[in-house]
Amino acid sequence: QKGNTVVDIKSNENAPVINKNIYGHFAEHLGRCIYGGFFVGDTSKIPNTNGVRNDIIDALKKLKVPNLRWPGGCFADTYHWKDGIGPKENRPTIVNQWWGGVTEDNSFGTHDFLNLCEALGAEPYLAGNLATGTVQEMADWVQYVNFAGKSPMSDLRVKNGRKEPWKVKIWGVGNEAWGCGGNMTPEYYAGEYRKYATFMSDWTNSGGLMRVASGANSEDYNWTETVMKNIPGSMLGGVALHHYSVIDWGKKGDAVDFSEEIYFKTMQQALKMEELVTKHSAIMDKYDPKKKIALVVDEWGGWYEVEKGSNPGFLYQQNTMRDAVLAGATLNIFNNHAERVRMANLAQCVNVLQAVILTDKTKMILTPTYYVMQMYNVHQDAKLLPLTINSPLYTFNGQNLPALSASASKDKNGLVHISLVNIDTKNSNSVEINLDELGVKSVTGTIIASPKLQDHNTFDNPTKIQITAFKGFENKKGKLQVVIPPFSVVTLEGK
Ligand code: AHR
Repeated sequence: QKGNTVVDIKSNENAPVINKNIYGHFAEHLGRCIYGGFFVGDTSKIPNTNGVRNDIIDALKKLKVPNLRWPGGCFADTYHWKDGIGPKENRPTIVNQWWGGVTEDNSFGTHDFLNLCEALGAEPYLAGNLATGTVQEMADWVQYVNFAGKSPMSDLRVKNGRKEPWKVKIWGVGNEAWGCGGNMTPEYYAGEYRKYATFMSDWTNSGGLMRVASGANSEDYNWTETVMKNIPGSMLGGVALHHYSVIDWGKKGDAVDFSEEIYFKTMQQALKMEELVTKHSAIMDKYDPKKKIALVVDEWGGWYEVEKGSNPGFLYQQNTMRDAVLAGATLNIFNNHAERVRMANLAQCVNVLQAVILTDKTKMILTPTYYVMQMYNVHQDAKLLPLTINSPLYTFNGQNLPALSASASKDKNGLVHISLVNIDTKNSNSVEINLDELGVKSVTGTIIASPKLQDHNTFDNPTKIQITAFKGFENKKGKLQVVIPPFSVVTLEGK
């Protein structure tokens, strides 16, 4: 065990609120995320509501999913929403050109998705097709889902069985325009964005749409600079950023069978998020000093080789303690940057990449990442408590990473939550927290931990990793001494 680290947490009236949308999820038409994941069809023997699995709905409700991004990803820039409305037997097919080349029947469309969001109590985040669609098509989609009065699109919506508009506020204007979304230059994209955004009107009359520009790939700072320079702030609600924790795109490594060296590299990539959001935020500050525009990290997570024997285009991977630690450390970064990072979407929700839920026919399991998202949902819409932490080092092969990360908040009921992550594989790390300064008298805790870093839940052993009570702390005269075990994620609640 390593020596004491002081986590200095200060209440600050001017600190931002941690936007609940940081805890958003992402559901793309990719592999078994939608078809064979969320959506099994209403004739399935798996209990479902309008074709969507009830067990998934229940699990995601417990998670308090604040927003869900759909239908992509790369798929979004191939998707024509009008093919997914009206009687299902009349819908044309679509070939999913990015993900496995499979033919989809469009049986999961706009109504299915927006009704799912209503069932979850989550805000929909619709990603519009800028690359292969038209301005008219995007404007029509906005009118179809948001316009309450009489119009060609709202009449069509009513004809398709939905009288009241859904009032969708969050809209992506294309996706990864630098790559699968059209291989555009940032200058060209900014021009396209301005054109599309002009016709995406606020049919809800409820404070405006939040239009999100397709953002940078990891450290492409020029992308953010160009987009911020060329798009008027009044047209921008958010600028996206995508960053995956990949060790090598050519050799991503197994999701379960990995060495400590690979783990270390994954964590290097994950912790890079701190530098990325700091630098992208600094660029945004130049053009938007009042921080009106959000940095939206709408794709993040670990990306490994697909499970052996599974379709390479389906991106199905298992989820271990490595992913739990990765998620906790990333969420700490987002919380601490709450002033600018006001939305994020873990990729992806079901059966794809760093999923919170995996399914196999009738079975469903919750992954270690699910439990981290659950432990952290106490920070949603709570006031950030800024902190400093002088972390000890986690050393591997002569290279160092900060072993500990933390974030803290105070919720509307006055409860204080402190989340701590120790990425060190061998050493426990102890921290000291001054409770008196926080006005906290008593503390309880929860933890995600397991004997091996490679441990994970399986369909045969679905509860190997779960949230358990954490007792590794002692209150010594107003100073809380906490011992955080190796590769674990802890949340403390103080009142
Ligand atoms: O999440 C998988 C893919 O990763 C998305 O479709 C794309 O936007 C990104 O490259």
